[in-house]
Amino acid sequence: MTIQGPIRPQPFSRIGKPTPRIDGAAKVTGRALYPSDESVPHAAHAFLVTSPIARGRVAGFDLGDARAVPGFLDFLCHENVGGQAKPPKQMAGGETTTTMESDRIWHDGQIIGVVLADSFEAAREAAFKVRIQTEAEPPSATFGSAGTTEEQREDEQKEDFAVGDAEMALAAAPVMLDAWYETPTQHHNAIELFTTTCAWNGRQLTIWEPSQFVYGLRGNVAQQLGIEPADIRVVSKFVGGAFGSKGGATARTAWIAIAARRLGRPVKLVATRDQGFTIATYRAETRHHLRLGANGEGRLTAVSHEGWEVTSRPSFYNVSGTETTARMYAAPNILTRVAVVHADRNTPGFMRAPPEQPYMFPLECAMDELAARLGIDPIELRRRNEPARDPVTGLAFSGRHLMTCFDRGAAEFGWNRRNAQPASMRDGDWLVGLGCAASTYTANIAASTARVTLRPDGQAQVRLAGHDIGTGAYTVVAITAADRLGLPVGQVTVEMGDTEYPPAALAAGSSHTASITHAVVRACDALLAQIATAATASNAGAFAGREPATLSLRDGHLVAPDDSSESLADAVGRISAGAVEAYAENVPDGMPADAIGKLYQGQLPILRGQKRVDMTAYSFGAQFVEVRIHARTREIRVPRMLGAFSAGTILNPTTARSQLMGGMIWGLGSALLEKTEIDQRAARYTNDNIAEYHIAVNADVRRVDVMMLPEPDGAVNPLGIKGIGELGIVGVNAAVANAVFHATGQRVRRLPIRIEDLL
Ligand code: MOS
Repeated sequence: MTIQGPIRPQPFSRIGKPTPRIDGAAKVTGRALYPSDESVPHAAHAFLVTSPIARGRVAGFDLGDARAVPGFLDFLCHENVGGQAKPPKQMAGGETTTTMESDRIWHDGQIIGVVLADSFEAAREAAFKVRIQTEAEPPSATFGSAGTTEEQREDEQKEDFAVGDAEMALAAAPVMLDAWYETPTQHHNAIELFTTTCAWNGRQLTIWEPSQFVYGLRGNVAQQLGIEPADIRVVSKFVGGAFGSKGGATARTAWIAIAARRLGRPVKLVATRDQGFTIATYRAETRHHLRLGANGEGRLTAVSHEGWEVTSRPSFYNVSGTETTARMYAAPNILTRVAVVHADRNTPGFMRAPPEQPYMFPLECAMDELAARLGIDPIELRRRNEPARDPVTGLAFSGRHLMTCFDRGAAEFGWNRRNAQPASMRDGDWLVGLGCAASTYTANIAASTARVTLRPDGQAQVRLAGHDIGTGAYTVVAITAADRLGLPVGQVTVEMGDTEYPPAALAAGSSHTASITHAVVRACDALLAQIATAATASNAGAFAGREPATLSLRDGHLVAPDDSSESLADAVGRISAGAVEAYAENVPDGMPADAIGKLYQGQLPILRGQKRVDMTAYSFGAQFVEVRIHARTREIRVPRMLGAFSAGTILNPTTARSQLMGGMIWGLGSALLEKTEIDQRAARYTNDNIAEYHIAVNADVRRVDVMMLPEPDGAVNPLGIKGIGELGIVGVNAAVANAVFHATGQRVRRLPIRIEDLL
């Protein structure tokens, strides 16, 4: 049953109580099955053969030694299966590179063959014994390499802005800040590797693969193989970290499906850590030209932000964070532009806060630089530029509490102890610096569906093809259903991550909690409507002849406003001795009605929040960082971080805190440690392992405080959820760079900031 129209407020809501993860015990006891853990009888093992060059063609393979490995079964490449799959559809940015469809090599580490064998060890050994002949051409690695091409971004999903006349305003500005910034290549490096297991049963294909969008993966593979989505099932019950890297379909899945079809037995692939750098997506390096014009009081007269991003040859994938730049501060003149630079690289993709993480870095550093130039406190500078309405569209903000975040955060952090003079604070051998920056992220929501059942004994079950990528999604679904059905959380079981269940929107863009919980609420309300209608239509019982819409569920009972009540055993049992079931769809206001049809097809959903015409909806935060830099060695430590966030309804403070803290810690690693190094001549990633790709570890992370400010926002969506998946990471890089400046007087505009930058 589909019920649209307003979602009624829940009269007995207990949302917002700290709740431990309902899947926690399963995870720590090993009962939680990640996709490659699923036991698939008689599976063969695959090992990928990847390109040793970045540009050219495959001239042939010598398989003599590989075939001699005991257990070797088969070798797939463009010669024998190339015509059997089309490249996956990019979720954004047009065409992507091909893999085994032809002999063409687009990038180093591209999949060019698949070895199949009886064991993983045999497959690996045989793969290393495949001799690859190539015809190489000189590759282009990155910005500034010979042979790259640059074009202005063209993308229907993204916008750039020209408000007023920024060039003229900049030329006339009493104070102008003009600077260039750089962010590096980065890879997600989730602990769980990229895996795919495929099994055919006649025409039916089952895929076990970690995914942020199981219906999307199903639709994409169906299109690649030319089969019906309904003939594919995707299972992804648990995901060991994704951060965007498991959001889109990549090439490997279809090849493993083809391998399983050819062999007539299931095939399992667990790609290696280094292969993950090139067979999946990553955060591309960016460059920025930032110009701020201001008057003597620090009021912005112009903001200009031009960005450059690297992508692959055929794709114009870009993240374009300039949409957020244009909305941050009250400037009457705004100019933004983004260009993509094509190189011989794999196609980049979503990585936590794809636009804001790289684009807020220059903006928030530039604001800090402007504050220092004007002798104004950086928080005060932001206050003077706080816009009353969206500076681009003139729309009202749906809750904009940036300054509340700064003020509450500053008080807690002890900002008033900061001496504004750079390099003025010292503790023994350590130079002390305090820095801050703003965070923000679009409040997104997408269409989604859910099915809920309730038994007379008060056990409820929620099923939807949602995704818990480590965020606590199972738990927020249970909380939402328990709240709505008037049950303890322990009486709700949740099943997700399987296309056997009704479709849920993708777990990305900080949209998933808002998307799935609204569908769960609608399904629970549809269930209540059935129960209440039966109770009021009955000739017997407490509610005979009453109005069904006045009844609610509370504490295992159906109740009326006058507190008369009936047990669930009676109320549910009146309809069924088994279970009452309801299915519901939620299409957020203002979204096209075909959103649900597209969801079933596995098309990339439109996230409400982008191009919203009734209001501009963002979450906000303020990041504070203390750095200590050793006066002689320039070693950089971060003893203290604090983030104050305003993100609407927080369904579960326990998992929300963890999510925000995780984002902040990643922001720290991203500012000081993380960089994928590229061999310029070979266009090859050199530190493609987690020994040399540095991330923040325990010793790097000291005190991290998370403040979640209460923000009732009934306008953004009925439950007031703005999303927190990305908010925690945004701005941390700038806050660190600003703190480094404050400690040393040295302004570093290129990430990551390392000892050598401060010598
Ligand atoms: Mo997230 S980078 O939007 O999957």
